[in-house]
Amino acid sequence: MNAVGTFTVEDGIGLITIDSPPVNALSHRVRVALDAGFRKFSADPAVKGIVLICAGRTFIAGADITELGKPILEPTLREVVDLIEQGKKPVVAAIHGTALGGGYEMALICHYRVAVPSAQMGLPEVKLGLLPGGGGTQRLPRLVGPEIALEVVIKGDPVPAPEALRLGMIDALTEEGNLKEGALAFIRQVLADGRPLQRIRDRTDKTGPHKGDSSVFDAFRRKNAHAMRGFLAPENNIKAIEAAVELPFDAGIAREHELFQELLESTQSAAQRYYFFAEREASKVSDVPADTPVRPVESVGVLGAGTMGGGIAMNFLNAGLPVTLAETTQENLDRGVATIRRNYEASVKRGKLTQAQVEERMALINGVVGMEALQGADLVIEAVFEQMALKKEVFGKLDAIVRPDAILASNTSFLSIDEIAQATRHPERVLGLHFFSPANVMRLLEVVRGAATDKQVVATAMKLAKTLRKVPVLSRVGPGFIANRVMGPRNRQAEAVVLEGTSPEHIDEALYDFGFSMGPFRMFDLIGLDVTGRDSTERTLRSDFLSHGRLGQKQNGGFYDYDADRNATPSPEAAAIIAAYAEYRNVPARAPRSPEEIVADLLYPVVNEGAKLLEEGIASRASDIDVACILGYAWPVYTGGPMFWGDTIGLGKIVQRLDELAALHGSAFAPAALLREKAAAGASFTR
Ligand code: NAI
Repeated sequence: MNAVGTFTVEDGIGLITIDSPPVNALSHRVRVALDAGFRKFSADPAVKGIVLICAGRTFIAGADITELGKPILEPTLREVVDLIEQGKKPVVAAIHGTALGGGYEMALICHYRVAVPSAQMGLPEVKLGLLPGGGGTQRLPRLVGPEIALEVVIKGDPVPAPEALRLGMIDALTEEGNLKEGALAFIRQVLADGRPLQRIRDRTDKTGPHKGDSSVFDAFRRKNAHAMRGFLAPENNIKAIEAAVELPFDAGIAREHELFQELLESTQSAAQRYYFFAEREASKVSDVPADTPVRPVESVGVLGAGTMGGGIAMNFLNAGLPVTLAETTQENLDRGVATIRRNYEASVKRGKLTQAQVEERMALINGVVGMEALQGADLVIEAVFEQMALKKEVFGKLDAIVRPDAILASNTSFLSIDEIAQATRHPERVLGLHFFSPANVMRLLEVVRGAATDKQVVATAMKLAKTLRKVPVLSRVGPGFIANRVMGPRNRQAEAVVLEGTSPEHIDEALYDFGFSMGPFRMFDLIGLDVTGRDSTERTLRSDFLSHGRLGQKQNGGFYDYDADRNATPSPEAAAIIAAYAEYRNVPARAPRSPEEIVADLLYPVVNEGAKLLEEGIASRASDIDVACILGYAWPVYTGGPMFWGDTIGLGKIVQRLDELAALHGSAFAPAALLREKAAAGASFTR
């Protein structure tokens, strides 16, 4: 017995049961228990084999990342590993729940691995900007070969047990719910067969054939270049696996350690670890305790079957929840339903869904014309045109149709939830659920809390996000909420800088190299210049593009010219339109900005807008702004998001440049009071 370990002997087999809630993380206490258990059974002549199993909901789920970077207490992991791996008795890891990172590495140290079918395992360290530094990069390739190891380690996704068996990551599946008996039977068979003690570290059968041949690695690098762009960790993971192929085990471990240390000290990993916690933190609301009662959401209504309504409906269908989809005419409804079907059929073609699953999901749609059929819904999400008068009209009607405790949500991008709520007799049940396009894909869900929104309604929305596999970020009411508002200055600045004589290509390239999937001008062209260009009656750069018939990628090109395959090339006509507009506005030409200047002048204003969101209480945490930008705008996660990035740059430097920009372009760029304050105090937003 030990605080978190129980050691029993059943018929010649020693059972080490770790019980360290909530997830048996590989903490110091767990190491102490493992050390005690393995010492005891190694010394006990009555014990012939050992089973390592965990109580509670999971096997050792992973390393204890709160211990990362802190002084290491004895016994070290290395000592525990040697004890297990060098032992003279076979050890089987019995896996249920999730064995990730340090958890799966612990299983790799054992001589055998068995798991229940529902278990998941893998090495996700790459997602924290790290690598599996507990020997994972050296043992996994020896067990399954470098090709599979690369996929598992560099993708970092959890592998379901049946797939893990197919890949060779485990030796056997046991019956669900009967793990202990299954593991005992397995090890008895091993003993009965007299199988020699096989340590993964001694194996070369899977790595040997690749020694001196880099083709597997070259192919992997080529195939995944796009997904790995900008990230440091994948390359270090690859190098570590190369070391497993090329070097003897102990030298490989030393190389792994070096590559791990390099990542651990990198800003990227700090950013990615920060982001990991930021995403989890985002669903917590300080004045809405975790035990706040939530309302049932079992039947959902979606109003409007356009771009957003269809995508929103798909989220619920995917979660198995029936949706009443309401439109104004049969024609609009049919078009909306057909689009949903087309999206699902595309997933069938990509092998992501079966036709039967598509039919199951489509059968959950109840398409209706008019709003009366929404009366039974627990939640109605409105996604009609972005017009305040229309939104007020439909909310007034919905309020009279649905049950008094049903929740009413708007997907508006920019309009005031408070004003919409005023059109109902129950503003406390109204909130914003702001999905991002494509709504069935994007993981961000902004939950917009109105002045009157009930805490239960907020709690229900936060829980709903989980059901839909979204990450909720809470916002108060304000134009553009969080993500759209905070990224607005980047787009406005892009246009300002282009007028001063830096080309769209240079601006886009600088932001692409920063890590965005495309620069702002490529994005404007993709969305279409008509989408926002027509709201204004005065002459703007966009209205000039429109009057030349340039609507973007869809018509005549925009800031770029496009060929039939949508390849973009710099456009002389666009350059002329920009120059003419700059002259009309009397914008003095400046020398083209360097990539560093472009990044600063487009993105420091984003940090500033984030400070304003905090000042105004629209966002409650700097980390929420980072989550919204990373998930909503593909801001590169390895910078941690705008607020973490701003802290990395140094707030003083940002304030200084914003002051210069304000002198050039006006007070809109002036640093927010909060930003100035923090800079003066040497404080930060996120650290
Ligand atoms: P859309 O024009 O594609 O679809 C709107 C649909 O609502 C149309 O099919 C229309 O027939 C229907 N509709 C209009 N009045 C209705 C009524 N009284 N009852 C039932 N259906 C009605 O527009 P989209 O892009 O889907 O936008 C919808 C809402 O989502 C807007 O508030 C927009 O600001 C917001 N939004 C849009 C995003 C986007 O990227 N398109 C992103 C996030 C929010």
